[in-house]
This record gives sequence, C-alpha cells and structure tokens, in this order.
Amino acid sequence: MMTEIHKMPLPPTPTLVADRLVLRPLQERDASAIQRLFPQWEVVRWLTASIPWPYPADGAAANMAETLAQRVRGEKFFWAITLKGDDELRGRIDLWPFDGRNRDMRGFWLDPALHGRGLMTEAANAVTSFAFEELNWPFLYLTNAVANRASARVKEKQGAIEIAREPFAYVCGEGERQIWQLTREAWRAT
Ligand SMILES: CC(C)(COP(=O)(O)OP(=O)(O)OC[C@H]1O[C@@H](n2cnc3c(N)ncnc32)[C@H](O)[C@@H]1OP(=O)(O)O)[C@@H](O)C(=O)NCCC(=O)NCCS
Repeated sequence: MMTEIHKMPLPPTPTLVADRLVLRPLQERDASAIQRLFPQWEVVRWLTASIPWPYPADGAAANMAETLAQRVRGEKFFWAITLKGDDELRGRIDLWPFDGRNRDMRGFWLDPALHGRGLMTEAANAVTSFAFEELNWPFLYLTNAVANRASARVKEKQGAIEIAREPFAYVCGEGERQIWQLTREAWRAT
C-alpha cells in the first residue's frame, strides 16, 4: 500500500474556481445555509450513520464548531460550494490526507435542487486537481454506498478504480461501502 506524503498542518484552504462554481473556504456564517439545506433525506440517506438523524436544530452549528477546530489544527480542507456570482453556500466538499488506515479522503453533498447538472463533477475535479497538482498527493481513496450511484458516477468519471467493498452503517441503515482509488496518473489520463 502506498504511504501518505502529506505534511501536517495542512496549508490554508484556497479558493478554487471552476466553470460554474466558486469553491471558497467554509466560514462560520455558512452554518445557517447548511442547517436549511443539509437535513434532507436525499442528502443524508447515504452518509455515515454518525450524523444525528433526525437532525437537531443546532446540528449545523455543532458540526461547524468541530469543522473549524479541525481547520485550525490544519487537519482537513473544507470548501463551501457556491454558484459564480452568488456567495451563498449550495453544498460542501471536504478533502483530507490519508491517515494510513481509513481509505476515505473526500466528502461532498449538494442542494438537491441542483442535482444532475454536473456541478459536483466540476467541484470534485477542482478539488482533485488541487490535491494532485498543488499538494502533489499521489492518490486519493474515495468511498460511497454501492447504492449511491450518483456519487459512484462522479468517481467513475474521474478515472477512479473500485478496489474493495465492506459493510458500513449509513443514516438509512446497514449498507455496503464501495472503496475506490484514484491515482494521479489515472486522473491525468482522463
Ligand atoms: C452525489 C451528489 C453530490 C452528486 O451531485 P451532482 O451534482 O448531481 O452530480 P453530477 O451531476 O456531477 O454527476 C452525477 C452523475 O450520476 C448520474 N446519476 C445520478 N443519479 C443516478 C442514478 N440514480 N443512477 C445512475 N446514475 C445516476 C448522473 O447521470 C451523472 O452522471 P453522467 O454525467 O454520466 O450523466 C449528489 O447526488 C448529492 O449531494 N447526494 C447526497 C449526498 C451524498 O450522497 N454525497 C456523497 C456521499 S459518498
């Protein structure tokens, strides 16, 4: 297995620009948009069962406090997904280094009103380019529920290869987790 090459603490989260999106560093003020958009079944169904459900009224604020603490420690990158010309958070994408154990290095969700337009593919490509071309990471491990075809498709389109499946607890119940590896070479070849 390849080992990690990242240095901690990570540098600050940069703003990334895509065709239709601006990914900007997540900020405390985004908690209200998250509290409005995130607690929807289409969003949480195939996310980890550690997410409280039903989602509490202070769920986004509590998660934001934890997120900002991780950011201060330089452990992860966190972006608010916004549409160009509009600073409002529409979704979120996170990236973190391989810790040598958990083969999962990226997470994302988007307002269901915006699904199916290729927007997360754009966001994932911007973040992947940052990981491979700026941070010089050699690979990403990525995961999703096997049943979460939209998330799997984003990975397939990037050139990721499925390497394992394992049981995993989701908000909607027990399921099977698909683990992918996307290498820098495969990414560059797509
Ligand atoms: C996963 C998610 C981020 C995808 O966002 P999106 O902007 O709709 O994704 P894109 O439009 O870039 O790409 C989705 C792809 O999946 C395909 N797709 C969507 N639903 C599908 C389904 N039910 N079956 C098969 N393919 C499906 C789309 O056709 C598209 O592929 P294509 O470009 O080949 O046509 C979004 O569905 C989401 O927020 N889900 C809830 C949170 C979540 O599950 N996050 C991932 C956890 S691992």
